[in-house]
Amino acid sequence: MRDVQRIAIVDPSDATREPLRNLLLGVDSVWLEAECARYEFFFDVIRQSQPDSAIVCLDADQAKAIQLIGQVAAEYPELPILAVSGRNDGQAILQALRSGAREFLTSPVQLEELLTVLQRMPRRTRGTDSSPGTGPGKINSRVYAVLGSRGGVGCTSVAVNLGATLAQAKEFSVALIDLDLALGDADVALDLMGDYTLADVALNIDRLDMAFLKRSLCKHASGLSLLPHPVQMEDCSLIREEHLQRLINLLRASYTHLILDLSKSFSPTDVTGLRMADTILVVAQLELSSLRNVVRMMLTLGNDPELAPKVQVVLNRVGTETDITVKKAEEIIGKPIFWQLPNDVKAMSEARTCGVPLLAQAARCKLQQSLAGLAQALTGKGARPAAPKAKRWFWQASS
Ligand SMILES: Nc1ncnc2c1ncn2[C@@H]1O[C@H](COP(=O)(O)OP(=O)(O)OP(=O)(O)O)[C@@H](O)[C@H]1O
Ligand SMILES: [Mg+2]
Repeated sequence: MRDVQRIAIVDPSDATREPLRNLLLGVDSVWLEAECARYEFFFDVIRQSQPDSAIVCLDADQAKAIQLIGQVAAEYPELPILAVSGRNDGQAILQALRSGAREFLTSPVQLEELLTVLQRMPRRTRGTDSSPGTGPGKINSRVYAVLGSRGGVGCTSVAVNLGATLAQAKEFSVALIDLDLALGDADVALDLMGDYTLADVALNIDRLDMAFLKRSLCKHASGLSLLPHPVQMEDCSLIREEHLQRLINLLRASYTHLILDLSKSFSPTDVTGLRMADTILVVAQLELSSLRNVVRMMLTLGNDPELAPKVQVVLNRVGTETDITVKKAEEIIGKPIFWQLPNDVKAMSEARTCGVPLLAQAARCKLQQSLAGLAQALTGKGARPAAPKAKRWFWQASS
Protein backbone atom coordinates (compact mmCIF):
# COMPACT_ATOMS: atom_id res chain seq x y z
CA MET A 1 0.00 0.00 0.00
CA ARG A 2 1.18 3.50 -0.72
CA ASP A 3 2.48 5.49 2.23
CA VAL A 4 0.10 8.12 3.44
CA GLN A 5 -0.12 11.28 5.48
CA ARG A 6 -2.40 10.67 8.46
CA ILE A 7 -4.61 13.61 9.28
CA ALA A 8 -7.01 14.48 12.09
CA ILE A 9 -9.58 17.24 11.63
CA VAL A 10 -11.81 19.15 13.98
CA ASP A 11 -14.78 21.21 12.88
CA PRO A 12 -18.05 21.40 14.82
CA SER A 13 -19.92 22.55 11.72
CA ASP A 14 -21.18 19.71 9.50
CA ALA A 15 -21.59 22.15 6.63
CA THR A 16 -17.84 22.81 6.36
CA ARG A 17 -16.49 19.57 7.86
CA GLU A 18 -18.17 17.31 5.32
CA PRO A 19 -16.82 18.93 2.15
CA LEU A 20 -13.36 19.00 3.70
CA ARG A 21 -13.67 15.36 4.68
CA ASN A 22 -14.75 14.44 1.14
CA LEU A 23 -11.83 16.36 -0.29
CA LEU A 24 -9.39 14.52 1.98
CA LEU A 25 -10.99 11.14 1.25
CA GLY A 26 -10.35 11.68 -2.46
CA VAL A 27 -6.60 12.02 -2.00
CA ASP A 28 -4.77 8.69 -2.00
CA SER A 29 -1.77 10.10 -0.20
CA VAL A 30 -3.98 11.12 2.74
CA TRP A 31 -5.40 8.88 5.43
CA LEU A 32 -8.19 10.51 7.42
CA GLU A 33 -7.19 9.22 10.83
CA ALA A 34 -9.74 11.03 12.96
CA GLU A 35 -12.64 13.37 12.50
CA CYS A 36 -13.90 15.34 15.46
CA ALA A 37 -16.95 17.59 15.87
CA ARG A 38 -16.03 19.13 19.25
CA TYR A 39 -13.08 21.37 20.02
CA GLU A 40 -13.13 20.06 23.61
CA PHE A 41 -12.40 16.49 22.53
CA PHE A 42 -9.77 17.15 19.90
CA PHE A 43 -6.82 17.22 22.27
CA ASP A 44 -7.62 13.66 23.38
CA VAL A 45 -8.20 12.63 19.78
CA ILE A 46 -4.69 13.84 18.92
CA ARG A 47 -3.21 12.04 21.89
CA GLN A 48 -4.85 8.78 20.95
CA SER A 49 -4.51 8.87 17.19
CA GLN A 50 -1.06 10.53 16.89
CA PRO A 51 -1.69 11.92 13.38
CA ASP A 52 0.96 13.39 11.06
CA SER A 53 -0.92 16.68 10.89
CA ALA A 54 -4.01 18.31 12.34
CA ILE A 55 -6.58 20.53 10.68
CA VAL A 56 -8.52 22.94 12.88
CA CYS A 57 -11.46 24.85 11.38
CA LEU A 58 -11.86 28.15 13.20
CA ASP A 59 -15.30 29.38 12.23
CA ALA A 60 -17.61 27.53 14.65
CA ASP A 61 -15.94 29.25 17.63
CA GLN A 62 -12.81 31.21 16.89
CA ALA A 63 -11.78 31.76 20.50
CA LYS A 64 -12.07 28.07 21.36
CA ALA A 65 -10.35 27.02 18.14
CA ILE A 66 -7.39 29.35 18.69
CA GLN A 67 -7.06 28.26 22.28
CA LEU A 68 -7.06 24.64 21.11
CA ILE A 69 -4.34 25.38 18.54
CA GLY A 70 -2.20 26.90 21.30
CA GLN A 71 -2.77 23.91 23.56
CA VAL A 72 -1.99 21.32 20.86
CA ALA A 73 1.05 23.26 19.61
CA ALA A 74 2.45 23.49 23.14
CA GLU A 75 1.97 19.79 23.84
CA TYR A 76 2.97 18.51 20.38
CA PRO A 77 5.38 21.09 18.94
CA GLU A 78 6.32 18.79 16.05
CA LEU A 79 2.74 18.28 14.92
CA PRO A 80 1.97 20.60 11.98
CA ILE A 81 -1.38 22.33 12.47
CA LEU A 82 -3.36 23.73 9.56
CA ALA A 83 -5.98 26.37 10.39
CA VAL A 84 -8.99 26.79 8.10
CA SER A 85 -11.48 29.66 8.00
CA GLY A 86 -13.92 31.11 5.51
CA ARG A 87 -14.20 34.48 7.22
CA ASN A 88 -11.20 36.23 5.76
CA ASP A 89 -10.59 37.75 9.16
CA GLY A 90 -6.96 38.90 9.21
CA GLN A 91 -6.90 39.13 12.97
CA ALA A 92 -8.08 35.53 13.42
CA ILE A 93 -5.55 34.28 10.87
CA LEU A 94 -2.78 36.10 12.70
CA GLN A 95 -3.91 34.74 16.05
CA ALA A 96 -4.08 31.20 14.70
CA LEU A 97 -0.57 31.47 13.30
CA ARG A 98 0.76 33.07 16.50
CA SER A 99 -0.85 30.30 18.54
CA GLY A 100 1.13 27.70 16.62
CA ALA A 101 -0.69 26.92 13.35
CA ARG A 102 1.89 26.35 10.59
CA GLU A 103 -0.42 27.03 7.66
CA PHE A 104 -3.69 28.71 6.90
CA LEU A 105 -6.27 27.89 4.23
CA THR A 106 -9.42 29.72 3.22
CA SER A 107 -12.66 27.76 3.27
CA PRO A 108 -14.11 26.31 1.03
CA VAL A 109 -10.77 24.60 0.64
CA GLN A 110 -9.58 24.04 -2.93
CA LEU A 111 -7.98 20.68 -3.68
CA GLU A 112 -4.77 22.03 -5.16
CA GLU A 113 -4.23 24.50 -2.33
CA LEU A 114 -4.76 21.70 0.15
CA LEU A 115 -2.27 19.45 -1.67
CA THR A 116 0.31 22.22 -1.86
CA VAL A 117 0.00 22.96 1.83
CA LEU A 118 0.10 19.27 2.79
CA GLN A 119 3.25 18.82 0.75
CA ARG A 120 4.82 21.74 2.60
CA MET A 121 3.91 20.38 6.01
CA PRO A 122 6.89 18.70 7.66
CA ARG A 123 6.42 14.97 8.18
CA ARG A 124 6.97 13.24 11.46
CA THR A 125 9.25 10.22 11.14
CA ARG A 126 7.95 7.09 12.76
CA GLY A 127 10.03 4.15 11.67
CA THR A 128 9.74 2.11 8.52
CA ASP A 129 6.38 0.37 8.59
CA SER A 130 4.25 1.85 5.84
CA SER A 131 0.79 0.75 6.87
CA PRO A 132 -1.65 3.36 8.08
CA GLY A 133 -1.71 3.63 11.81
CA THR A 134 1.85 2.45 12.28
CA GLY A 135 3.93 5.16 10.79
CA PRO A 136 4.24 6.00 7.14
CA GLY A 137 7.13 7.76 5.45
CA LYS A 138 5.73 9.18 2.20
CA ILE A 139 7.17 8.09 -1.16
CA ASN A 140 7.73 11.29 -3.06
CA SER A 141 6.05 11.17 -6.41
CA ARG A 142 8.44 11.05 -9.38
CA VAL A 143 7.72 12.19 -12.91
CA TYR A 144 9.62 10.65 -15.83
CA ALA A 145 9.34 12.30 -19.24
CA VAL A 146 10.23 9.96 -22.11
CA LEU A 147 11.41 11.84 -25.18
CA GLY A 148 12.36 10.23 -28.49
CA SER A 149 15.28 11.50 -30.55
CA ARG A 150 13.49 10.63 -33.81
CA GLY A 151 10.39 8.80 -34.99
CA GLY A 152 10.15 5.14 -34.08
CA VAL A 153 13.14 5.15 -31.76
CA GLY A 154 11.24 3.30 -29.03
CA CYS A 155 9.82 6.12 -26.90
CA THR A 156 6.38 4.54 -26.39
CA SER A 157 7.87 1.07 -25.91
CA VAL A 158 10.09 2.41 -23.13
CA ALA A 159 7.28 4.46 -21.54
CA VAL A 160 4.75 1.61 -21.54
CA ASN A 161 7.13 -1.11 -20.42
CA LEU A 162 8.84 1.01 -17.81
CA GLY A 163 5.38 1.87 -16.47
CA ALA A 164 4.18 -1.74 -16.39
CA THR A 165 7.43 -2.83 -14.76
CA LEU A 166 7.26 -0.16 -12.07
CA ALA A 167 3.62 -1.04 -11.42
CA GLN A 168 4.72 -4.53 -10.30
CA ALA A 169 6.16 -3.13 -7.09
CA LYS A 170 3.32 -3.20 -4.58
CA GLU A 171 4.36 0.06 -2.97
CA PHE A 172 4.18 1.92 -6.30
CA SER A 173 1.15 3.30 -8.09
CA VAL A 174 2.00 4.28 -11.62
CA ALA A 175 0.23 6.31 -14.31
CA LEU A 176 1.19 6.94 -17.91
CA ILE A 177 0.01 10.09 -19.70
CA ASP A 178 0.10 9.92 -23.47
CA LEU A 179 1.27 13.38 -24.46
CA ASP A 180 1.89 12.43 -28.06
CA LEU A 181 -1.42 14.19 -28.52
CA ALA A 182 -1.98 13.64 -32.24
CA LEU A 183 -0.38 10.29 -32.99
CA GLY A 184 0.23 8.60 -29.65
CA ASP A 185 -0.31 4.87 -29.38
CA ALA A 186 0.18 3.98 -25.73
CA ASP A 187 -3.47 2.85 -25.72
CA VAL A 188 -2.75 0.46 -28.60
CA ALA A 189 0.41 -0.82 -26.91
CA LEU A 190 -1.71 -1.69 -23.86
CA ASP A 191 -4.87 -2.63 -25.78
CA LEU A 192 -6.87 -0.24 -23.62
CA MET A 193 -9.85 1.82 -24.60
CA GLY A 194 -10.82 4.24 -21.88
CA ASP A 195 -14.06 6.17 -21.53
CA TYR A 196 -12.13 9.40 -21.14
CA THR A 197 -9.05 11.03 -22.62
CA LEU A 198 -6.90 14.07 -22.01
CA ALA A 199 -9.51 16.09 -23.96
CA ASP A 200 -12.18 15.32 -21.32
CA VAL A 201 -9.80 16.38 -18.59
CA ALA A 202 -9.08 19.65 -20.44
CA LEU A 203 -12.78 20.32 -21.03
CA ASN A 204 -13.58 19.79 -17.36
CA ILE A 205 -10.49 21.44 -15.97
CA ASP A 206 -12.48 23.93 -13.87
CA ARG A 207 -14.32 21.25 -11.97
CA LEU A 208 -11.49 18.79 -11.84
CA ASP A 209 -11.36 16.86 -8.61
CA MET A 210 -9.69 13.65 -7.58
CA ALA A 211 -12.79 11.52 -8.20
CA PHE A 212 -13.19 12.81 -11.77
CA LEU A 213 -9.50 12.46 -12.43
CA LYS A 214 -9.40 8.86 -11.24
CA ARG A 215 -12.37 8.02 -13.44
CA SER A 216 -10.49 9.50 -16.40
CA LEU A 217 -7.65 7.01 -16.17
CA CYS A 218 -8.10 3.46 -17.33
CA LYS A 219 -6.30 0.73 -15.47
CA HIS A 220 -4.39 -2.03 -17.19
CA ALA A 221 -4.17 -5.53 -15.74
CA SER A 222 -0.50 -4.87 -14.98
CA GLY A 223 -1.56 -2.18 -12.51
CA LEU A 224 -0.44 0.64 -14.79
CA SER A 225 -3.03 3.41 -15.26
CA LEU A 226 -3.28 5.25 -18.56
CA LEU A 227 -4.61 8.66 -19.52
CA PRO A 228 -4.90 8.40 -23.32
CA HIS A 229 -4.41 11.13 -25.92
CA PRO A 230 -7.58 12.67 -27.43
CA VAL A 231 -9.46 10.52 -29.93
CA GLN A 232 -10.24 13.39 -32.31
CA MET A 233 -7.22 15.12 -33.79
CA GLU A 234 -8.93 18.50 -33.56
CA ASP A 235 -9.22 18.08 -29.80
CA CYS A 236 -5.44 18.18 -29.39
CA SER A 237 -5.56 21.97 -29.26
CA LEU A 238 -7.84 21.80 -26.21
CA ILE A 239 -4.94 20.68 -24.06
CA ARG A 240 -2.92 23.62 -22.90
CA GLU A 241 0.14 23.95 -20.69
CA GLU A 242 -1.81 25.10 -17.63
CA HIS A 243 -4.10 22.06 -17.93
CA LEU A 244 -1.16 19.75 -17.94
CA GLN A 245 0.43 21.53 -15.01
CA ARG A 246 -2.73 21.13 -12.99
CA LEU A 247 -3.18 17.55 -14.04
CA ILE A 248 0.36 16.53 -13.12
CA ASN A 249 0.16 18.30 -9.77
CA LEU A 250 -3.05 16.48 -8.92
CA LEU A 251 -1.86 13.10 -10.15
CA ARG A 252 1.29 13.45 -8.07
CA ALA A 253 -0.92 13.23 -4.99
CA SER A 254 -2.30 9.86 -6.02
CA TYR A 255 0.51 8.16 -7.94
CA THR A 256 4.05 7.46 -6.84
CA HIS A 257 5.28 7.52 -10.45
CA LEU A 258 4.05 9.38 -13.50
CA ILE A 259 5.40 8.62 -16.94
CA LEU A 260 4.93 11.09 -19.79
CA ASP A 261 5.17 9.71 -23.33
CA LEU A 262 6.05 12.92 -25.17
CA SER A 263 5.65 13.74 -28.84
CA LYS A 264 8.65 14.63 -30.93
CA SER A 265 7.47 18.12 -31.81
CA PHE A 266 8.66 20.06 -28.75
CA SER A 267 5.13 21.46 -28.48
CA PRO A 268 4.17 23.67 -25.52
CA THR A 269 2.70 20.65 -23.71
CA ASP A 270 5.90 18.67 -24.35
CA VAL A 271 7.96 21.51 -22.89
CA THR A 272 5.64 21.69 -19.88
CA GLY A 273 6.12 17.94 -19.43
CA LEU A 274 9.89 18.39 -19.60
CA ARG A 275 9.80 21.18 -17.04
CA MET A 276 7.59 19.24 -14.64
CA ALA A 277 9.59 16.03 -14.93
CA ASP A 278 12.11 14.96 -12.34
CA THR A 279 13.97 12.92 -14.95
CA ILE A 280 13.99 13.26 -18.73
CA LEU A 281 14.78 10.00 -20.51
CA VAL A 282 16.00 10.80 -24.01
CA VAL A 283 15.64 7.62 -26.06
CA ALA A 284 18.27 7.18 -28.77
CA GLN A 285 19.69 4.52 -31.04
CA LEU A 286 23.19 3.92 -32.31
CA GLU A 287 22.62 5.54 -35.68
CA LEU A 288 23.36 8.92 -37.16
CA SER A 289 20.03 10.73 -37.33
CA SER A 290 19.08 9.75 -33.79
CA LEU A 291 22.47 10.72 -32.34
CA ARG A 292 22.55 13.97 -34.31
CA ASN A 293 19.18 14.85 -32.81
CA VAL A 294 20.40 13.98 -29.32
CA VAL A 295 23.24 16.46 -29.88
CA ARG A 296 20.71 19.07 -31.00
CA MET A 297 18.50 18.32 -28.02
CA MET A 298 21.43 18.59 -25.67
CA LEU A 299 22.16 22.04 -27.07
CA THR A 300 18.68 23.11 -26.05
CA LEU A 301 18.07 21.02 -22.95
CA GLY A 302 21.70 21.14 -21.84
CA ASN A 303 21.76 24.93 -21.90
CA ASP A 304 18.70 25.22 -19.72
CA PRO A 305 19.87 25.15 -16.10
CA GLU A 306 16.50 23.76 -15.00
CA LEU A 307 16.40 20.94 -17.54
CA ALA A 308 20.05 20.00 -18.04
CA PRO A 309 20.59 18.08 -14.77
CA LYS A 310 17.46 15.99 -15.39
CA VAL A 311 18.47 14.58 -18.78
CA GLN A 312 19.54 10.92 -19.05
CA VAL A 313 20.18 9.22 -22.38
CA VAL A 314 18.79 5.71 -22.83
CA LEU A 315 20.12 3.76 -25.79
CA ASN A 316 17.50 1.47 -27.26
CA ARG A 317 17.93 -1.52 -29.56
CA VAL A 318 21.57 -1.97 -28.66
CA GLY A 319 22.97 -4.96 -30.56
CA THR A 320 21.61 -4.05 -33.98
CA GLU A 321 24.32 -3.98 -36.61
CA THR A 322 26.04 -0.61 -36.63
CA ASP A 323 29.48 0.96 -36.96
CA ILE A 324 28.84 3.28 -34.05
CA THR A 325 29.99 2.01 -30.67
CA VAL A 326 28.52 3.07 -27.34
CA LYS A 327 31.80 4.82 -26.55
CA LYS A 328 31.61 6.74 -29.81
CA ALA A 329 28.00 7.71 -29.07
CA GLU A 330 29.05 9.04 -25.67
CA GLU A 331 31.77 11.11 -27.34
CA ILE A 332 29.30 12.50 -29.87
CA ILE A 333 26.70 13.32 -27.23
CA GLY A 334 29.23 14.52 -24.69
CA LYS A 335 27.46 12.68 -21.91
CA PRO A 336 27.58 9.14 -20.51
CA ILE A 337 24.80 6.78 -21.56
CA PHE A 338 22.51 6.18 -18.58
CA TRP A 339 21.06 2.85 -19.71
CA GLN A 340 21.23 0.44 -22.65
CA LEU A 341 18.25 -1.61 -23.73
CA PRO A 342 18.99 -4.55 -26.01
CA ASN A 343 17.43 -5.13 -29.40
CA ASP A 344 14.80 -7.88 -29.26
CA VAL A 345 12.63 -7.76 -32.33
CA LYS A 346 10.76 -10.96 -31.65
CA ALA A 347 9.73 -10.21 -28.06
CA MET A 348 8.96 -6.55 -28.67
CA SER A 349 7.06 -6.95 -31.91
CA GLU A 350 4.99 -9.82 -30.48
CA ALA A 351 4.18 -7.75 -27.40
CA ARG A 352 3.22 -4.74 -29.54
CA THR A 353 1.13 -6.88 -31.90
CA CYS A 354 -0.74 -8.46 -28.99
CA GLY A 355 -1.14 -5.11 -27.24
CA VAL A 356 0.49 -6.24 -24.01
CA PRO A 357 3.59 -5.13 -22.11
CA LEU A 358 6.70 -7.29 -22.44
CA LEU A 359 6.08 -8.61 -18.95
CA ALA A 360 3.15 -10.51 -20.37
CA GLN A 361 4.73 -11.72 -23.53
CA ALA A 362 8.27 -12.54 -22.53
CA ALA A 363 8.81 -11.79 -18.87
CA ARG A 364 12.22 -13.45 -18.84
CA CYS A 365 13.67 -12.02 -22.03
CA LYS A 366 16.81 -9.90 -21.82
CA LEU A 367 14.96 -6.78 -22.85
CA GLN A 368 12.47 -7.09 -19.99
CA GLN A 369 15.31 -7.82 -17.55
CA SER A 370 17.02 -4.68 -18.78
CA LEU A 371 13.81 -2.65 -18.39
CA ALA A 372 13.56 -3.93 -14.82
CA GLY A 373 17.15 -2.78 -14.32
CA LEU A 374 16.24 0.64 -15.70
CA ALA A 375 13.27 0.82 -13.29
CA GLN A 376 15.58 -0.07 -10.43
CA ALA A 377 18.22 2.43 -11.51
CA LEU A 378 15.58 5.16 -11.55
CA THR A 379 13.84 4.31 -8.30
CA GLY A 380 16.58 2.63 -6.35
CA LYS A 381 14.29 -0.20 -5.36
CA GLY A 382 11.52 -2.65 -6.14
CA ALA A 383 10.16 -3.10 -9.62
CA ARG A 384 11.66 -6.49 -10.29
CA PRO A 385 10.19 -8.47 -13.20
CA ALA A 386 7.82 -10.41 -10.94
CA ALA A 387 7.36 -13.06 -13.61
CA PRO A 388 4.92 -15.42 -11.84
CA LYS A 389 2.49 -12.61 -10.98
CA ALA A 390 2.74 -11.18 -14.48
CA LYS A 391 2.12 -14.53 -16.08
CA ARG A 392 -1.04 -15.17 -14.09
CA TRP A 393 -2.80 -11.96 -15.01
CA PHE A 394 -1.59 -11.91 -18.54
CA TRP A 395 -2.72 -15.37 -19.41
CA GLN A 396 -6.16 -14.16 -18.44
CA ALA A 397 -5.76 -10.88 -20.29
CA SER A 398 -4.54 -12.33 -23.56
CA SER A 399 -6.50 -15.56 -23.71
N1 LIG B 1 14.32 -2.76 -27.82
C1 LIG B 1 13.64 -3.02 -28.92
N2 LIG B 1 13.92 -4.12 -29.65
C2 LIG B 1 13.24 -4.37 -30.79
N3 LIG B 1 12.28 -3.61 -31.27
C3 LIG B 1 11.96 -2.49 -30.61
C4 LIG B 1 12.62 -2.14 -29.40
N4 LIG B 1 12.08 -0.98 -28.94
C5 LIG B 1 11.13 -0.63 -29.82
N5 LIG B 1 11.05 -1.51 -30.82
C6 LIG B 1 10.15 -1.46 -31.97
O1 LIG B 1 10.33 -0.21 -32.60
C7 LIG B 1 9.10 0.25 -33.15
C8 LIG B 1 8.87 1.68 -32.70
O2 LIG B 1 8.74 1.71 -31.33
P1 LIG B 1 7.88 2.81 -30.57
O3 LIG B 1 6.52 2.91 -31.13
O4 LIG B 1 8.01 2.52 -29.12
O5 LIG B 1 8.71 4.11 -30.95
P2 LIG B 1 8.28 5.63 -30.76
O6 LIG B 1 9.54 6.38 -30.59
O7 LIG B 1 7.27 5.75 -29.70
O8 LIG B 1 7.62 5.93 -32.17
P3 LIG B 1 6.76 7.20 -32.62
O9 LIG B 1 7.73 8.13 -33.25
O10 LIG B 1 5.78 6.65 -33.58
O11 LIG B 1 6.12 7.76 -31.39
C9 LIG B 1 8.02 -0.70 -32.66
O12 LIG B 1 7.65 -1.52 -33.73
C10 LIG B 1 8.69 -1.52 -31.58
O13 LIG B 1 8.23 -2.86 -31.59
MG1 LIG C 1 5.42 6.76 -29.70
